[in-house]
Amino acid sequence: MFYNPLSLENKVALVTGAATGIGASCVEHLARMGAKVMATDIDSAAGQKAVNNLVNDGLNVAFSQHDVCLEEDWNRSVKSTLEKFGGLDILVNNAGIYIGGTLLENSLEEVRRVQQVNVDSIFLGMKTAASVMKIGAEAGKGGSIINLSSVAGLIGVPGHSAYGASKGAVRLYTKHAAVEFGKLGYNIRVNSVHPGLIKTAMGEQAFQDFVDVGLAATIDEAKEVIKTMTPLGKLGEVEDIAQMILFLASDAANFITGAEFTVDGGMSAQ
Ligand SMILES: NC(=O)c1ccc[n+]([C@@H]2O[C@H](COP(=O)([O-])OP(=O)(O)OC[C@H]3O[C@@H](n4cnc5c(N)ncnc54)[C@H](O)[C@@H]3O)[C@@H](O)[C@H]2O)c1
Repeated sequence: MFYNPLSLENKVALVTGAATGIGASCVEHLARMGAKVMATDIDSAAGQKAVNNLVNDGLNVAFSQHDVCLEEDWNRSVKSTLEKFGGLDILVNNAGIYIGGTLLENSLEEVRRVQQVNVDSIFLGMKTAASVMKIGAEAGKGGSIINLSSVAGLIGVPGHSAYGASKGAVRLYTKHAAVEFGKLGYNIRVNSVHPGLIKTAMGEQAFQDFVDVGLAATIDEAKEVIKTMTPLGKLGEVEDIAQMILFLASDAANFITGAEFTVDGGMSAQ
């Protein structure tokens, strides 16, 4: 029988920031490819509602309320994943926030907050998950960790310096972890995904920021400016990102680690 390396049957995933946007799409895609998925978010009402819809559709998904800045929340969510689904093979470190404004406008508190949510979460997620995923540990088979960075973690974008600095840290945290985990024989791959502008609540915030820093007069004009910056001439959909995550989570990506994947319509290739 043909072995389908893209199948996620018998794999268990944990996805953060799963109530909406890219995270919610990712949960649905992973579950439809056969994975059992623990969806987590700080917003328990929205997260539980999104999960209920998928469960009603027959998918094997559960919800855990989880602030990605808190170590105790990571410990609790990983523990419930092991108890409910009997393992952990895939971590999608997706939760993040965007704080815009020019560098001269940004306060130290804003810069620290965006670092806390976008970078502390990556550290805590990789640490908690790898402790149970690595060969010989409780879940013990190794696996795949996918960290959400951004095109703003690769290139300069006006109004994005605080956010971009945090996403640049995500990119390099990924490479250090990948090399270390590989050399130490954990059998855990770690890769980063760099979306361009995607149609979500956060994407809307970025359009508003283009207006606020004076790069466009209206939100509609901001959308046109971003399309012009994108060789494929359009904005991204949540599914575009979820499909890259499916690939990196699967055995089809078995020899890929420490790599960065742009899903940006060519924006960062120029
Ligand atoms: N949308 C884009 O254009 C875009 C572009 C590049 C990168 N990204 C990255 O992709 C990821 C998802 O983005 P999105 O557009 O779906 O965002 P979104 O704002 O639409 O959704 C983010 C989710 O994360 C949750 N969240 C926020 N803070 C949290 C915390 N402390 N603990 C747990 N959950 C928390 C929110 O409740 C929300 O459900 C983020 O890391 C983001 O930086 C998005």
